[in-house]
Amino acid sequence: MTLTIADATVRGGGGRRDGELIMSWTLDAFLRRLDRCDHSPALDELTAMLEDLDVEPEEVRPYVRFDWHAYRRNIMHTGPLYEALVLCWRPGQRTPVHDHGGSTCAMRVLKGVATETAYAPADDGTLIETSRRDLPAGSVSGAADGFVHEVVNDQPPGFDLVTLDVHAPPLVAANTYARQRVAERPRAPQLA
Ligand SMILES: [Fe+2]
Repeated sequence: MTLTIADATVRGGGGRRDGELIMSWTLDAFLRRLDRCDHSPALDELTAMLEDLDVEPEEVRPYVRFDWHAYRRNIMHTGPLYEALVLCWRPGQRTPVHDHGGSTCAMRVLKGVATETAYAPADDGTLIETSRRDLPAGSVSGAADGFVHEVVNDQPPGFDLVTLDVHAPPLVAANTYARQRVAERPRAPQLA
């Protein structure tokens, strides 16, 4: 796809990254660019686009809707090859442990802190925790179709989480995993 100056603005006075101009996309231009894609964007494309997105939480306000019982997925925009959602989480709310069923998924944290835990399947059918990290506002995380993870708002009361997620193609066949299959990662012994 050809980049036009109407679609993007140069960020930071025209800095460079790997020899290229750093462009920042408005939310509208970001969605139009996805609409014009003639292929389902690959994971590295999606994460790069989300990293270069210039967006404030206020811009997605119409889609910021919470549920008191579980995190809520609010569809912002759909195209034949992708869907963009605003996900809203109260403290303590989490996804199931899941994969992405043939879709790639990229997430940008708009507000709050997302805690993402990744898992790998073991020979006995359990899932082993392989990593856990906190993603503050502005962070981008990408998940390939077979990547197994969960995301939680692990912050104290009063600290909501809002993320922008893009699935390509739209997520229709993700698998979820029972928490009984998840084995706790061995912890380092606590020092007294
Ligand atoms: Fe996911």
